[in-house]
Amino acid sequence: MDISFAKAALPKSGALALLLQEGVTATSPTAPLLQAADEATGGAISRALKVADFSGKKGQTATILAPGAGLTRVVAIGLGKLAELSPLRLEEAGGAITVALAREPAASIATAGLSAAQAASVAMGALLRSYRFDRYRTKEKAEDKPKLARLTVLASEPTAAKSAFTPLQGVANGVFVARDLVSEPGNILFPVEMAARCKALEKLGLKVEILGPKEMLKLGFGALMGVAQGSAQEPRVVAMHWNGGGARKAGKKPLCFVGKGVTFDTGGISIKPAGGMEDMKFDMAGAGAVIGLMAALAGRKAKVDAIGIVGLVENMPGDNAQRPGDVVKTYSGQTVEVINTDAEGRLVLADVLWYAQQKYDPRFMIDLATLTGAMVITLGHEIAGFFSNDDELSKQLHEAGEASGDKLWRMPLGEAYDKQIKSDIADMKNVGGRPGGAITAAQFIQRFVNGKPWAHLDIAGTAWTSKDLPTTPKGATAYGVRLLDTLVATYFEA
Ligand code: BES
Ligand code: MN
Ligand code: ZN
Repeated sequence: MDISFAKAALPKSGALALLLQEGVTATSPTAPLLQAADEATGGAISRALKVADFSGKKGQTATILAPGAGLTRVVAIGLGKLAELSPLRLEEAGGAITVALAREPAASIATAGLSAAQAASVAMGALLRSYRFDRYRTKEKAEDKPKLARLTVLASEPTAAKSAFTPLQGVANGVFVARDLVSEPGNILFPVEMAARCKALEKLGLKVEILGPKEMLKLGFGALMGVAQGSAQEPRVVAMHWNGGGARKAGKKPLCFVGKGVTFDTGGISIKPAGGMEDMKFDMAGAGAVIGLMAALAGRKAKVDAIGIVGLVENMPGDNAQRPGDVVKTYSGQTVEVINTDAEGRLVLADVLWYAQQKYDPRFMIDLATLTGAMVITLGHEIAGFFSNDDELSKQLHEAGEASGDKLWRMPLGEAYDKQIKSDIADMKNVGGRPGGAITAAQFIQRFVNGKPWAHLDIAGTAWTSKDLPTTPKGATAYGVRLLDTLVATYFEA
């Protein structure tokens, strides 16, 4: 979608969206375009809003078709009370505009009374909601497709609003990168292809390094390679670097984000039931979020040094697949008894996290993974659970969650849970039984953190939505991109 900014003036044709605060009427001086549109249409708009009982309450929308004065459609969007306007609510209003004006090829949005930054948030919401993954639809009729291609944001300070929007556009691109990756089916997006898509992001200014199986075997990634060995598809580990902060030069430590990238999870020999298995193409959403985040940081030229590392494997029950009961040696040297080959994400993360802290000595590590069904049962699809060994990082993450809309809630760790993954034959086993399944998975991961400040986000419930959300159409959510971009922007930028 093409978004531009212009001075407020009543458009002579096309569609117009009016963002209206609670209690505003056609005679309010804070809504000059409402006034102008109402006059030009002989009062049609105020009459329609009255009939629709439109009062500007948050979430209210009213659509008026062909009101006159050349306008095809006027949509009024309620903002609620101006004092309670958060960037998030403005984004939601922007999303509502995209939905309401989907049939229009071009539209203007009146943002009178809003600041430049607020107008930019509206544009961001409209853009995020316009996302669509339609690569594989070859027969869709034009009339069934959303038409909205051009939005003009009418603002009192269009130049300032455009400047505020430019970095947001970089972030939206990161969100789209993640949604695209997570939406792709497993036959298209296997580890080698996913690594190639990372490499292509060098055009944004990222530096991308790729490890293949030879290097990983040499380093001793026994846990990751054990998962990969059941698949005909070769694994990859990809490290993406964004050096925007000069921290490395100053001898400071980079931030590190790690993602689970199981491009398809059949469960391996501990195979999953057929019903719903197709959903497991999303099992690389942690990696997708990390890649999207790196694209976002590069896209808005964040003043930070960050590394995103993703472990890319396919979990298949091929003839060389690992067996339940196998013992693997991780890169850390610790051994793992693989009781269940479907608990593969933690095996991948074990080696990648150890690699991350050995090679890059980061300030902290945050990993994201669609790790457990237990997490979905715990917090559902609304909020992600996270685990951390660091109270300050936890607080920052929680705040960034509230601000970005990617909500999360801290979950406990503890020795008693750690006991559940004791093995009779190796240093640990890869499952701890049904009770506290998301927690024992986190305990397993913590054994590869080596005391570094760390947080683990289990995004199994939030990476995908089965219903449309205000700024996220049904499908891949890109959960984590906005969250971590906000975390970086709020607490870690120079
Ligand atoms: N990718 C799954 C987790 C998952 C399951 C995400 C359902 C979303 C919905 C993960 O690899 C897995 O299979 N976990 C097992 C672990 C168990 C074997 C200890 C699970 O949660 O059932
Ligand atoms: Mn699994
Ligand atoms: Zn998995």
